[in-house]
Amino acid sequence: MSKSSKSPLSRAEVWKQLKSHHEQVKNLHMRDLFAADSERADKYCIRLDQLLVDFSKHRITEDTVALLLDLAESCSLNSAIASLFAGDKINLSEDRAALHTCLRAPAKDSLLHDSENLITQVHEQLQNMEQFAGDLRAGKIRGAGGEKFNKVVNIGIGGSDLGPRLAIEALQAKADNDIDIEFISNLDPKELDSVLSACDPNRTLIIVVSKTFTTLETRTNADAAKQWLVDNGCTHLDKHMVAVTTNQSAAKEFGMTDEHIFYFWDWVGGRYSLWSTVGLSIAIAFGMESFRDLLAGAREVDEHFQTESAEKNIPVILALLSVWYNNFFEAESHAVIPYDQSLRLFPEYLSQLVMESNGKSVTLDGESVEHQTSPVIWGTIGTNAQHAFFQMLHQGTHLIPVDFIVAVKNPERQQQQLMQVSNCLAQSEALMLGQQHSSNLNQKFAGNTPSTTILYDELSPKVLGMLLAIYEHKTFVEATIWNINPFDQWGVELGKKLAIQIIQELSAAEPDEEKHDASTQLLMQEYLRRN
Ligand code: F6P
Repeated sequence: MSKSSKSPLSRAEVWKQLKSHHEQVKNLHMRDLFAADSERADKYCIRLDQLLVDFSKHRITEDTVALLLDLAESCSLNSAIASLFAGDKINLSEDRAALHTCLRAPAKDSLLHDSENLITQVHEQLQNMEQFAGDLRAGKIRGAGGEKFNKVVNIGIGGSDLGPRLAIEALQAKADNDIDIEFISNLDPKELDSVLSACDPNRTLIIVVSKTFTTLETRTNADAAKQWLVDNGCTHLDKHMVAVTTNQSAAKEFGMTDEHIFYFWDWVGGRYSLWSTVGLSIAIAFGMESFRDLLAGAREVDEHFQTESAEKNIPVILALLSVWYNNFFEAESHAVIPYDQSLRLFPEYLSQLVMESNGKSVTLDGESVEHQTSPVIWGTIGTNAQHAFFQMLHQGTHLIPVDFIVAVKNPERQQQQLMQVSNCLAQSEALMLGQQHSSNLNQKFAGNTPSTTILYDELSPKVLGMLLAIYEHKTFVEATIWNINPFDQWGVELGKKLAIQIIQELSAAEPDEEKHDASTQLLMQEYLRRN
């Protein structure tokens, strides 16, 4: 993904071929594609370790796949992947590498960056995490009054919250000690109040996670948590607070001591940071062995992504299918439905990963894009989703591709698991087949709704690592095709700047009429009138 003056995607020969191919196949029904090819299910299925990825229920033919693979090649996907792993400065607008893959590389590897071996640095931090998390779990690290910690509160937002929050909930069954992990992210104080009111200050450790250590929400919540400790008589704040950041000086100014600052690097994007010290709460909850299993799962996908041929490469295929629907069928959204309660927060996590990465409208060459970029990512767990919005997937007017993610084993409750799996399979089958033979239009289902099914045994740290890395790389491949930078997020800046301005004016009770539109002025006045 190096800067290269590419002509617009829509003018590429393969793009035009895909357009005309789409015209030919857009009305084909998957029912007929399955009927015509008894090998279809096997052909469009990829296995990796215990994962099975079935992409046969897609509106594709062999020609479609061939053209999509040509598209990937014409976008120099292989060299983009090589640049990602080599640490090239592919995040052009911020002039830096995107090296989250380095965080799960084995210690024997090496990657030189500004003459430093990054892998050595990564493993030093992992070592520090291991020591700290182990000592905390063993009760060797205690609060100022000598009591063992029983709560760890992670304060952060976006990538400094969603990854650890997802992992802690997803792997809860593996928790093997009496330390509860809580999360505070929202600026709305109700979350902070509700979490802290259930904590004993003498037995609570606060982890402030912020790449920049400047984020308004996190700083405000960290200040409030600090005040809560003080109000409750804590005299050694440093024993109750830890920072995870790239900005060590700001953490020190805040009052953190050197031993309580875990760092990571500017080449780790927030939404790709769970694998770094940002995952400290995960190591505390489940132990470092589990954290290393999570990294190992991601590493396995990294290797698959780098070495597998494109047609058997899970992230590549998932991304090409996404481009197929997004840019040719003009599908505007994509649903993710985990049939696994453990993955309740997965759609929310993905919405940041995918939309903050690929919600872009400028190419790597600095031109406006002429094609659609990221679809809206949404969803919730099955079976709840079936009784909420599945009606629209079955009979609505929008084409919405679906990812079903399903665990098949639950030794303690296998019968219930069987029912859950059956529901998942029934939904993908119904979405694909539809129901034609009804004289009543209300009971007619057009079918032909595409879906991918990702199946595994049970959610473990390793499987979670694999799933997250698959979607990270899928997002990267989409960005490569669309010729956009998935690693910056300038779009969040304007709102942040205006919020600071409005906070100042409301605090002074002096809205500046020059600076705001009439609607914003009215709302600010209304706030002041009511307070
Ligand atoms: O505002 C968006 C964002 O910058 C995300 O990309 C990031 O994950 C989040 O804010 C939190 O940032 P920080 O870790 O610097 O507090």
